[in-house]
Amino acid sequence: MTRTFPKEFIERYSQFIPDFDAFLDAMQRPLRRTFRVNTLKATRERALDLLADLNPEPLAWYELGFSLDGGEGLGKRLEHFIGLIYVQEAASMAPPLVLDPQPGECVLDLAAAPGSKTTEMSAMMENTGIIIANDPSPTRVRGLLGNVDRAGCLNVAVCRMDGPSLGRAVVGTCDRVLVDAPCSSEGTIRKSSQALAHWSVAAIERFPSIQKRLILAGYLALKPGGQMVYSTCTVAPEENEAVVAHLLSKQPEAEVCEAELPGLKMRPGLCEWEREQFPEAAGRCRRILPQDNDTEPFFVALIRKPA
Ligand SMILES: C[S@@+](CC[C@H](N)C(=O)[O-])C[C@H]1O[C@@H](n2cnc3c(N)ncnc32)[C@H](O)[C@@H]1O
Repeated sequence: MTRTFPKEFIERYSQFIPDFDAFLDAMQRPLRRTFRVNTLKATRERALDLLADLNPEPLAWYELGFSLDGGEGLGKRLEHFIGLIYVQEAASMAPPLVLDPQPGECVLDLAAAPGSKTTEMSAMMENTGIIIANDPSPTRVRGLLGNVDRAGCLNVAVCRMDGPSLGRAVVGTCDRVLVDAPCSSEGTIRKSSQALAHWSVAAIERFPSIQKRLILAGYLALKPGGQMVYSTCTVAPEENEAVVAHLLSKQPEAEVCEAELPGLKMRPGLCEWEREQFPEAAGRCRRILPQDNDTEPFFVALIRKPA
């Protein structure tokens, strides 16, 4: 299937993606189904045993992540219903791995619904410590509650507040914060032709204002020495490097660290976009492009508050 990408889309992204044809090619290919094993409910071996008929293939960079040919029925499998596995796009598994929450810690997930990353972090923390999983959307919070329950997460407190207000209520208390921000979701173009039909620069411009408020609130919630991941499933620099640059302009001591996940190719962030220059630290952000690992595009920035 060949899709027509808007001229502006091509003009914007061919500026900084040198293998642009490979990018466009990948953006037109349907995504492979992926899932991760939920270690709160099953071992890797047990889950693989139960799903052997689907021939899951391990992701190169995450031992609990798998992809499938076909796999449309995965969401109807008993293993999914009882929470032994969680159906989740592969690149969406990366931000929690970069944040690396530890057992016993206090973690804030500021924009959490429907809970893919909350449930992933809960398993990484072995159901200990606490995750405050927040989302202001009543309908999406219902999904979050259902997923937290299905995945057997006992260390999650669900909260329904505006993220910036919540950040101000918990200043200086969190070991780690995830800001998986609302975004224009260019990443979902691989999943749905509707996403491409709705693409516009105007749609991109709707998000930086809330994204900037969320990244600042997340940073304020960190303890000294704490770490935050800011992530989006979009390519637009306005929603990514420009948001990190905004944080650095308000909190110049914030440190952007180089995230690495062995086996997952990530490209450095941009230090300029159109006529805007970003601090050199923006280059330490990471962009996951679809042609590199056969995933959705994603953006990840790992930020540390000095001790
Ligand atoms: C990309 S989605 C989060 C996906 C989720 N982290 C996951 O992995 O399942 C962004 C979320 O931000 C939420 N959101 C929108 N405005 C917000 C605000 N002011 N404060 C906090 N979250 C907000 C949306 O309701 C949406 O659920």
